[in-house]
Amino acid sequence: MSSSRKKVIAGNWKMNLTLDNALSFIYEVNENLPSNDRVETIIFPQSPILSELVNNQGKDLKIGAQNMHYLESGAYTGEISPAILKDLKVSYVLIGHSERRQYYNETNESVNLKIKAAIKYDLIPVFCVGELLESREKGSTNIVLANQIYKGLKDISAEDALKIIVAYEPVWAIGTGKTATSTEANDTIKSIRNMISKLYGKDVSSKVRILYGGSVNANNVVELLSQSDIDGALVGGASLKSASFIKLVEAAL
Ligand code: PGA
Repeated sequence: MSSSRKKVIAGNWKMNLTLDNALSFIYEVNENLPSNDRVETIIFPQSPILSELVNNQGKDLKIGAQNMHYLESGAYTGEISPAILKDLKVSYVLIGHSERRQYYNETNESVNLKIKAAIKYDLIPVFCVGELLESREKGSTNIVLANQIYKGLKDISAEDALKIIVAYEPVWAIGTGKTATSTEANDTIKSIRNMISKLYGKDVSSKVRILYGGSVNANNVVELLSQSDIDGALVGGASLKSASFIKLVEAAL
């Protein structure tokens, strides 16, 4: 089943790396990345260097933004317009990362508006969902995820849903060194696929790519990606060095 879905290795740099570091990273990756059409590789740098990186992205590496507003323009100091991202030829945008939900009050409703805006501007949304430790311990992981998925995808057509990449990132696994076991991650991703199936049917849900994120590194990535429903990884810490990023891509191949 997973073989028809192209794998994705995505590096979320968060608020890290200077322009010099970032350019060295992409030169090294472009030189050493095995050229292929089986794995989609994406980097999400800080917004001010998006343009510079897009201009140097090379053949296989794609560039995405970590956030954007859902409106095209207006009095929103400090925000980033989807129209600017399109102008800069950015290809992807992270929507609803748990750090945005936690520190910048992103809600399921704003996430929904942002996904719609991304699609309108031809940006591929990487729609992040995931439960807090507290919810997991209470046994309410699937309730939290269903709420995020159903509200996040509200009024989005099946045709548009196919353009979205979902990233399941349990919040307790992000930056903590703790990962869900590959079986746990796969089971939860299967539940997310079922939720998508309830909205759009099996044909769509079997095509939507769902990534796992949370302390993924070169040592655990093979095991995670060998699972039936895990289509790739959204990686923070282990994506900051080119050698480590290349190892992740090699593992996905
Ligand atoms: P991590 O971050 O790999 O450092 O846990 C993942 C993410 O936040 O996307």
